[in-house]
Amino acid sequence: MKFIIGNWKSNKNASQVEDWFVKFSSYYKHRDFQSLNCKVVICPSYIHLYLAKKLVERHNLPIVIGAQDVSPFKTGPFTGEISASQLSEVADYVIIGHSERRENFSETNNVLKEKTKMAKKKGLSTVFCISNTNSYIPETADLVAYEPVWAIGTGKSEDPLKTEQIANQISKKGFPVIYGGSVSNKNIIDYFSLKSLSGVLPGGASLDPKKFWEMIVNVSAFQKKTS
Ligand code: PGA
Repeated sequence: MKFIIGNWKSNKNASQVEDWFVKFSSYYKHRDFQSLNCKVVICPSYIHLYLAKKLVERHNLPIVIGAQDVSPFKTGPFTGEISASQLSEVADYVIIGHSERRENFSETNNVLKEKTKMAKKKGLSTVFCISNTNSYIPETADLVAYEPVWAIGTGKSEDPLKTEQIANQISKKGFPVIYGGSVSNKNIIDYFSLKSLSGVLPGGASLDPKKFWEMIVNVSAFQKKTS
C-alpha cells in the first residue's frame, strides 16, 4: 500500500478548511480514480478534525482523516490533551514525533513511545517521524516517515537515491517508509518511483487543493503507466 499524507500543521481556519474540500471535490468529480492504488490522508489541526471528516463524507471523497499528535496519557485529568480514545472517534491515522514537535515541545523518545502505544491500543495507525537512520522507532509504529529537518519547508528535498538507501535501511527493521520534506506536485514521482518507499508526507504543498490534487493526478498517471 502506498500513501500520500498531507500534513496541514497549524494552518487554516474553519472556512479555509471548507474551501479546500469544496475545491478539491470539484477537481475530483471530473476524474475516475480506479487506477489510483494509494491511500490519501489529510491531517488538519485537532480543532478541524470533525469538520474535515464531515466534509469528506459530504463530498464523498476517498480521503481518510489523520491527526498531527496524540496524548501519551489515557482519557482523564490531563488538561489540554486529546487522548487516543477521543481521537479514534474522528481519525484513522496519527502523526507522531514530527521534528517540529520534538524541537518546540521537547518530546522525548519515552513520550513518543507512550504516544505510539496509546494510539495503537485505540486502533489508530501511526506515522512515526524520524530525521535519520539512528533515530529510535517504537516497535508498534505502523509507518515510518523519514524527514530530514533541513528539507522541511525549505523547498530543498532529499536526493531520491539517498532516500532510497535510507528507506532500504529502515525497511530492513520491518517498517514501511514514506518520505517528507518539500515534496510537491513537481517532484512527487521522483519519490513514488522508488521501490523501497511507500509514499510521501507533503506539508506546504498539501495546503493548496490544486497542488495536492496534481500530486494525486501525477501518481495516478505514473501507476497506470507502470502497472
Ligand atoms: P514540507 O513539510 O512539505 O512543507 O516540507 C513536510 C513535513 O513537515 O511533514
